Amino acid sequence: MGPFIRAWKEMYGLDYTKRWNFTPAIKPGDELQFGKVIGQVQEGAFTHYILCGSERGKVVGVASGSVSLDEPFGELESGLEIPGCHEWPVRMPRPYKKKFAPSTPLVTGQRIIDFLFPLARGGAAIIPGGFGTGKTIFEQSVAKFADVDIVVYVGCGERGNEMTEVLTDFPELEDPCTGRPLMERTVLVVNTSNMPVAAREASVYTGITIAEYYRDMGYRVALMADSISRWAEALREISSRLEEMPGEEGYPTYLATRLAGFYERGGRVVCLGDGGREGTVTIVSAVSPPGGDFSEPVTQSSQRIAGVLWALDPDLAHRRHFPAVDWRKSYSLYAGTVDEWFRDHVSAEWPALRGEMMGLLQREEELQEIVQLVGIESLQDQERIVLLVSGMLREDFLRQSAFSENDAASHPEKTYYMLKAILSFHSLCRELLGKGIPVEKVLALPFREELGRMKELPAEGFREEALALIGRIEAEGRAGP
Ligand SMILES: Nc1ncnc2c1ncn2[C@@H]1O[C@H](COP(=O)(O)OP(=O)(O)O)[C@@H](O)[C@H]1O
Ligand SMILES: [Mg+2]
Repeated sequence: MGPFIRAWKEMYGLDYTKRWNFTPAIKPGDELQFGKVIGQVQEGAFTHYILCGSERGKVVGVASGSVSLDEPFGELESGLEIPGCHEWPVRMPRPYKKKFAPSTPLVTGQRIIDFLFPLARGGAAIIPGGFGTGKTIFEQSVAKFADVDIVVYVGCGERGNEMTEVLTDFPELEDPCTGRPLMERTVLVVNTSNMPVAAREASVYTGITIAEYYRDMGYRVALMADSISRWAEALREISSRLEEMPGEEGYPTYLATRLAGFYERGGRVVCLGDGGREGTVTIVSAVSPPGGDFSEPVTQSSQRIAGVLWALDPDLAHRRHFPAVDWRKSYSLYAGTVDEWFRDHVSAEWPALRGEMMGLLQREEELQEIVQLVGIESLQDQERIVLLVSGMLREDFLRQSAFSENDAASHPEKTYYMLKAILSFHSLCRELLGKGIPVEKVLALPFREELGRMKELPAEGFREEALALIGRIEAEGRAGP
């Protein structure tokens, strides 16, 4: 119908004529209840479980093999047919058996996230940032590389060309987990700035309902919302037309409740039906505070609920330091919980290294103040080394271009070895200073360029290259004068 659905026209969300190869999971005599898996069909590489809707009762017949959605998938004792799809009101959360606290990390491939401010599967993260600080690129990078089964990307009230980019890019890109086109695991809900506000209000709910639907099949789902502020603005506009009492900054008084209701729909749950399937919905939402001022109501209300805050900093973005996540303001409440996974799967040193790195970055900030006041000469040798190494941490480790071929995504193992190499260089510098080598000589050590180039190395053989470099750095310390 072109870009917009014309008035009075009805469009079906599903293709009712397409034929599917249905493998039933129920048999005559079974009792149906909401959420029970009645069978499965194959949708590309993806197994689509057919869930039971509101039908209740005893099964007397089951279809098998080729069926389409306008045919019955089975029959109940009462004579009712079992349909292959069901409807769900998007504003209502889909039910589950039990909700748990998150426990495993959602690996995003962004070093600053996975290492410093990790996100947990079933958790919620917000990315507040002013115009042009990199929210959209960040959301898209996470959508591309996140280690999940399904990504639901809601483009809410932002520019249309960004969604076009997703539409043209994703089919060409490969899913890092399965090697299939990324589009096969991605659902796009598009509501650009030129579309009606009522649809915008519905778009975020539509996205989260689709996410819950796949969660109920036992999948790990990530919901990316760009941006939740535009959604809140739609609420404001609708509310003012309804002549409701305005609250803070003209937003409706129930803004915080609605936002909380939305974030509450994420989580790690045991699904309804039998088998104890576990599914997760992880929410990552961009927030665009006007003027980059985080004290406005949408950022504040979101921050109260989300477990992770990745604050984007305009100064970093101006300096082209991307992702412009401000390590001073950001935090993750899941760090302690997911550390166990990183300890078991990457390295036992993971949490300790994070502490060491944060310590260095903080020390750098204090030292920079001294340098600005009295100049670099006033620093002790050890402190000049701290400045050197923390500069490398920022430039070589935290900085990660979304457009780089080998560095757009960083596997946790790569993240670990990169950091390990930089920190072993730090030990080397300290060791040499301890042996009485002049600081100028230490500052001129040859490893710096090599460490800086490390992130561009291809994934195959990265570990070996990194270990070889660390070996040479350590040997240099032993060799010394
Ligand atoms: N990770 C990144 N790597 C390289 N460049 C980036 C990255 N993130 C953002 N940028 C640059 O910043 C620009 C603005 O980013 P964008 O995500 O559109 O900002 P926002 O959505 O916050 O307005 C991009 O066009 C790109 O040039
Ligand atoms: Mg944007």
